[in-house]
Amino acid sequence: MQFGHFDDANREYVITQPDTPLPWINYLGCQAYFGLISNTAGGYSFYRDARLRRISRYRYNNVPFDFGGRYIYVRDNQSSEFWSPSWQPTRNQVDKYSCRHGMGYSIIGSEYKGIEARTRYFVPLDENLEIWQLTVTNHRQTSASLSIFSSIEFCLWDAQDDSTNFQRNFSIGQVEIEDGVIYHKTEYRERRDHFAYFACSAKTAGFDTQRESFVGPYRGWDKPAVVERGESANSVAHGWAPIGSHHVKLDLKPGESQQIIFVLGYHENPVAEKFDPPDSQTVNKKTVKPVIAKYLKAANADAAFDRLRAYWDELLSICQVETPDIHTNRMVNIWNAYQCMATFNMSRSASFYESGIGRGLGFRDSNQDLLGFVHMVPSRARERILDLASTQLPTGGAYHQYQPLTKRGNNDVGGNFNDDPHWLIIGVSAYIKETGDWSILDEPVPYDNEPGSEKPLYEHLQRSFQYTLDRLGPHGLPLIGRADWNDCLNLNCFSDTPGQSFQTTTNKEGKTAESVFIAGLFVLAGQELAAIAEHRCHKDEAKRYRAEAKKMDETIHQHGWDGEWFIRAYDDFGKKVGSSECTEGKIFIEPQGFCVLAGVGLEDGLAQKALDSTRKHLATKHGIVLQQPAYSRYYLHLGEISSYPPGYKENAGIFCHNNPWVMIAEAKVGNGDNAHDYYSRINPSAREAISDLHRCEPYVYSQMIAGKDAPTHGEAKNSWLTGTAAWNYYAIVQQILGIQTSLDGLQIAPVIPTSWKGFKATRKYRGVTYRIEIERQGKGNKIALTVDGKKLEGNTVPVPVNGTKEISVRGILS
Ligand code: GLC
Ligand code: GLC
Repeated sequence: MQFGHFDDANREYVITQPDTPLPWINYLGCQAYFGLISNTAGGYSFYRDARLRRISRYRYNNVPFDFGGRYIYVRDNQSSEFWSPSWQPTRNQVDKYSCRHGMGYSIIGSEYKGIEARTRYFVPLDENLEIWQLTVTNHRQTSASLSIFSSIEFCLWDAQDDSTNFQRNFSIGQVEIEDGVIYHKTEYRERRDHFAYFACSAKTAGFDTQRESFVGPYRGWDKPAVVERGESANSVAHGWAPIGSHHVKLDLKPGESQQIIFVLGYHENPVAEKFDPPDSQTVNKKTVKPVIAKYLKAANADAAFDRLRAYWDELLSICQVETPDIHTNRMVNIWNAYQCMATFNMSRSASFYESGIGRGLGFRDSNQDLLGFVHMVPSRARERILDLASTQLPTGGAYHQYQPLTKRGNNDVGGNFNDDPHWLIIGVSAYIKETGDWSILDEPVPYDNEPGSEKPLYEHLQRSFQYTLDRLGPHGLPLIGRADWNDCLNLNCFSDTPGQSFQTTTNKEGKTAESVFIAGLFVLAGQELAAIAEHRCHKDEAKRYRAEAKKMDETIHQHGWDGEWFIRAYDDFGKKVGSSECTEGKIFIEPQGFCVLAGVGLEDGLAQKALDSTRKHLATKHGIVLQQPAYSRYYLHLGEISSYPPGYKENAGIFCHNNPWVMIAEAKVGNGDNAHDYYSRINPSAREAISDLHRCEPYVYSQMIAGKDAPTHGEAKNSWLTGTAAWNYYAIVQQILGIQTSLDGLQIAPVIPTSWKGFKATRKYRGVTYRIEIERQGKGNKIALTVDGKKLEGNTVPVPVNGTKEISVRGILS
């Protein structure tokens, strides 16, 4: 069952039924001002940091699940009836409902008794504000006398404090109202120099800023007293819950249409100019008024929208493909790339499953995310890398995350994850392969943000690599520390206290538990670093990195191989995890995917065996589960992984983030059929028809799909913010379609399904547009390339040096 459809030409997903199984959301904003918006206009906004600068309030895990947002009410003043065009919060039986989620905007609306109302929500480029462009049309034969009410509930900035510290917060709310503009200025009187505002383009008949006056005692957003009455209370908030609501009276002749623009924004004043007059307590509005005036004009709002469209056209044009599979095309050309930009902006901080107060920007997460967005925003990727590296510790280890506003690392979600440092090598390498910008390696970067500790970025990479060499276990495999990629395999934790966090509780020193996954990652990072060192003419160093990677490869062969597949780890007692010797958790996906991806076992058949075992034991029609058999009970020595009921999350769920590792591994052994088959199983567009089972958005990946041990097998959770976005993008574009970035240029090495006749692609790379056309003539993966008609030796297309802006690359697969 579907709840809408793709409109690929407009790059939109059109939801035609408001009661989707879960809120189907979109993101607004791509620079500093951001918002989340659901298909019924739920959600909230923030400036830079969802925790520290929350502009509007949102209550998670609400009843209904998604409640609170950018709601507009329409009231028919003849019948006194009122409704919300976005369906929520009044939930009237509206007609012709649609929500068009597009690139950085959403258009939501419907028709009710002949009155059509649709709102286009978006954040203009380079501005810290959002526009709600409401168009109301009277399709009746008679004139309509309407009242429009806007509404937003302000958050008192720090979202954590806002939802807990009521004894203070109920007394501090402050607003100002001037010329119909509502200014939310809580704490502006003291240490804040920022405020929010909510403006309206039409002449207002009234306003409200105190929540209780608007909704009325013992009422909710579904039936606000003011809307029912048809008249604002003109309330001024003193403490309690500041909100913003305008009342606009609208008379429409038959067939007439009118537009009202609402602008919700964030503004900072220079500290010395906070007040106007200077010795007063009144907000200085001179600095913000021109911005407000500008966007209340329809022509300017339209122009800003066009600019946003053009911005996304440009970003997405960098990589476009035309394959025989519509789901591949749609995800690569539109939605997967778009989701990668969301993970760039949010990391794992703010979604409908990440509350914005739990996590910031993850070291491991954001480095991997780079694989998916570096080609679209290379200069911002550079900045991101330097921010991440600045939080690295002198040991080479890393804080697990930092807060976007402060850019300082913290241990709020734990530390000592021994895989962390290697992701920096992977991220930097991806950046250089894309851009050819070697200068980044010489950039001075501090450790732990400590001024004076700056060293070239290259040295950070060296320390990352060394970090593992300094922490090898009894078998010569990397010690796991708190955990590796799998946050929930907690081999040093031994937590027996209810409620204790597996992520932050004090761990054992941990001199025994080892990770085969980190070993695979180390092999990959070693090769990447060696290639970088070679380019910098550090021959001996490169040799050493290769030797260490090779040694680790041998150690994996010796101590990380179980006979039919790669072992996952050794626990604190030196016993195997993910081995046929175990009663549960005999085989894990991570080492199968990642060891092969790093090249381990490609020559001696272990890789193929590992993949065969993966197919046999872990693959389901909804994707590949994380391990089998699922843990049926809690194991003190394994930790959080066994805390989840079987089939969910890390306990044998289909963790979509690591499925692409197996796709890539299949590509490495040359099996394009298997690679693309796995790709299709979790591709959200390919799952659209089963939206009632899948439940999450069909246009973006979710972190998890319930595994075969779960009663809800096939149900997705935690959409949007997941490493799944970047890894799937990387797997399909670089490994299956084989359009690979390398240090020396674009490499063409497709491993596509045997049934495909070929495909086309356009890739803008280092200033040159590559028009690529691949034709299949045989069943294999051998490629013969011509560039602008000339035969090419090998498969790396050198970047033209003579100012050529476009080249044509033709490949014959045999
Ligand atoms: C979450 C985390 C990621 C981790 C994964 C597996 O997605 O964001 O860092 O690798 O879970 O535990
Ligand atoms: C929990 C989740 C895991 C996530 C981690 C982040 O352990 O299961 O997916 O990575 O929290 O702290």
